[in-house]
Amino acid sequence: MKFIQKSDVLELLKKHVSGTELVKATLGSYKGAEVDLKNLYLKPVSIKNNYQISFTYRYARRDIVKNYDVIVATEMLVAFCEQEEFHSISLFLQQENIFLQWHPKRGWSYRVEAAENCCTPNLAHNKQKERKITDTKSAYWHELRLTDTDGKVYKNAQDKWKQINHYIEILSSSLSELPESETLRIVDMGAGKGYLTFALHDYLMQQTTKKIETVGVEFRKDLVDLCNQIAEKSALTGLQFVEGTIEAYQPAVPMDILIALHACDTATDDAIYKGIQHQANLIVVAPCCHKQVRRELERVKAKNELNFMTRHGIFMERHAEMLTDSIRALLMEYHGYQTKVVEFISDAHTPKNVLIVGLRKKVNPARQKEIQAKLRELKTFFGLESHYLEHLLKAANLLAD
Ligand SMILES: C[S@@+](CC[C@H](N)C(=O)[O-])C[C@H]1O[C@@H](n2cnc3c(N)ncnc32)[C@H](O)[C@@H]1O
Repeated sequence: MKFIQKSDVLELLKKHVSGTELVKATLGSYKGAEVDLKNLYLKPVSIKNNYQISFTYRYARRDIVKNYDVIVATEMLVAFCEQEEFHSISLFLQQENIFLQWHPKRGWSYRVEAAENCCTPNLAHNKQKERKITDTKSAYWHELRLTDTDGKVYKNAQDKWKQINHYIEILSSSLSELPESETLRIVDMGAGKGYLTFALHDYLMQQTTKKIETVGVEFRKDLVDLCNQIAEKSALTGLQFVEGTIEAYQPAVPMDILIALHACDTATDDAIYKGIQHQANLIVVAPCCHKQVRRELERVKAKNELNFMTRHGIFMERHAEMLTDSIRALLMEYHGYQTKVVEFISDAHTPKNVLIVGLRKKVNPARQKEIQAKLRELKTFFGLESHYLEHLLKAANLLAD
């Protein structure tokens, strides 16, 4: 390891922060007096055609962004360095990256590497957060057999890839509405092979400064073992898969986000019920088959004005889907969730293409009464004895008769 004098470190900072080859810089291992300051992230920006340096101070619970002209920015960095407030400094330049580390007994170590992907600085101010998975080179994509070793998405995985990106895009707007918290705990029920679980976990790790803890619940042991192996191999911290059923899962700590994508039939109800019971701030489900309500509709064959439609099997199927999911959305609303139902991915790719998203707000007693009345009306009209989610909520005293 090579060591250099503090005066050399100061020169490097002065030279590179005021030069135009700076792509970004991070200052970490903060040892100063500011409570909760974790690190400092720097990038050049152009504001009204003035070249400035944007400082993002990353605290445990929030980010503070300030922009300084180059002279002030350099002076501040020099002061940080003189007072040894940050013990690690990484300068990412167009051609090379420089890593400086303060060792109390030996001073500043110095390491330089050629920049792997030479890039010019992006001077866009307040650039929108990327809402898509751009890094196809993460090892887990290949392990999940979505990409080849170079990160190229396989031809036969293109639909899945589109679905993953659309999922992230839809969720990103709801995620920004979640209450402030230091940690974001996600439970993904019926995680399967984990494509969407990995995608969301990694996306959140990249996009927020929060600690991300994700649990994938799945009853197939082979899938649980595979996903845990891939998570470990890819060094994705905070992501784990557990073997078990949705019905029996009891979270050890409160969950912020409940997800259940394509969990069959009433497994979606079990998942929503868990979300409501544990007061998850966000519930996201993509229902799969809708057998419970369909069986009931076919058994009772209620006479109503819609019989001209439901005598056709395919329409009966769609009818059961819409009724099941509309009641799910209503019951979530009863518990204060602002719900929206959106298309997950075009039905050209999969018929299971609806996503119900519920963001927990306040319970409104007047609205609860309306929902109860609507539920009674719907059940009479369709001859539906019970909806499985309704049954679960009533059994737990979470829904009045
Ligand atoms: C169709 S896959 C969907 C996987 C993943 N969520 C996705 O959308 O790509 C459904 C998964 O849920 C699991 N599953 C279904 N019912 C379950 C239950 N009650 N408890 C736990 N896992 C369940 C199945 O084993 C299967 O792996």
